Amino acid sequence: MNNSHETLLGQFIETRKELHTPDPQAASDILKAVEKASTKVYEVISRAGLANVLGAVGSENVQGEQVQKLDLFANDQFIDALTSCASVAAILSEENEEIITLNPSGDYLFATDPLDGSSNIDVNISVGTIFSVFKRKKKGTPEKEEFLREGHEQVMAGYVLYGTSTVLIYTCGHGVHAFTLEPSTGEFTLTNEALKTPVDGNIFSINEGNYHTLEKGIQNYIGFCKKLNEKGKRTHTARFMGSLVADFHRNLLKGGIFIYPATADAPEGRLRLLYECNPIAMIAEQAGGMATQGKERLLNRKAKEIHERSPFFTGSKVMMETALRYLDE
Ligand code: F6P
Ligand code: MN
Repeated sequence: MNNSHETLLGQFIETRKELHTPDPQAASDILKAVEKASTKVYEVISRAGLANVLGAVGSENVQGEQVQKLDLFANDQFIDALTSCASVAAILSEENEEIITLNPSGDYLFATDPLDGSSNIDVNISVGTIFSVFKRKKKGTPEKEEFLREGHEQVMAGYVLYGTSTVLIYTCGHGVHAFTLEPSTGEFTLTNEALKTPVDGNIFSINEGNYHTLEKGIQNYIGFCKKLNEKGKRTHTARFMGSLVADFHRNLLKGGIFIYPATADAPEGRLRLLYECNPIAMIAEQAGGMATQGKERLLNRKAKEIHERSPFFTGSKVMMETALRYLDE
């Protein structure tokens, strides 16, 4: 059901090579693999209550979290699709303790959370796939140390949100572009080129169940968000779904701040640096927003472990600057 004026993902890359430098061919191959895998994930998720795919497998992943059946399904789809992508040498996935070698002659490394927010699937709430791409600095059999880089070195980052519609958002460092899946053809159509996030917003997203374990500056910032104006009306609104991709995407479009800081339960933060924070931070910055690990820019953090976690703050510029002032006090 494509209208002739619609731009499909492949056409967009082909006609806008300057937005996909330094390697439009690799960008095209990788995004085609993402399109293929995420379309399969979409198909299964959208019928999840009908197919026998809900629930946990009964084991924990390397992070000590319950693995859902759909986590494994999504992981398999991305590994399969990227195996046919000559550009990708290895994949680092939340679901696998070690990296998986795909095509040793490939020049790129792919890191992913194949199904973010998967504990929300059983209750029909949006989930996502997050991905990050680095260019390799050497040839030969990939080693996991090659992933231990700084986030600003990413050459591509993005996510797919399986929501009321399925959208693909990505950047190759030349703006953020949004595509929507046409389910009848399995193709992604351009819906927003050079997407920008509002400079300011009024949504704050944080799991307040952790409130009493947060550092004082963050508690004070939450207090600021809850202040009433001179008319006694609220100044901010709280939204937290527990699916990073969905929470971030809403704030990206509407203006807001997302915070997952260090907590008593997650002293290093909960979100994983290489395949959750880094790619979301690159999208945020490319859209005109900000992302930090607290006071420092997130994309300057060098990974020491492939599954390392980080505190994460991201959002609209004005809200982030205000939050940073509270952290400094
Ligand atoms: O992947 C981790 C994740 O599921 C994110 O999608 C989400 O933002 C976060 O955990 C929610 O964590 P919590 O349940 O501790 O608020
Ligand atoms: Mn996740």
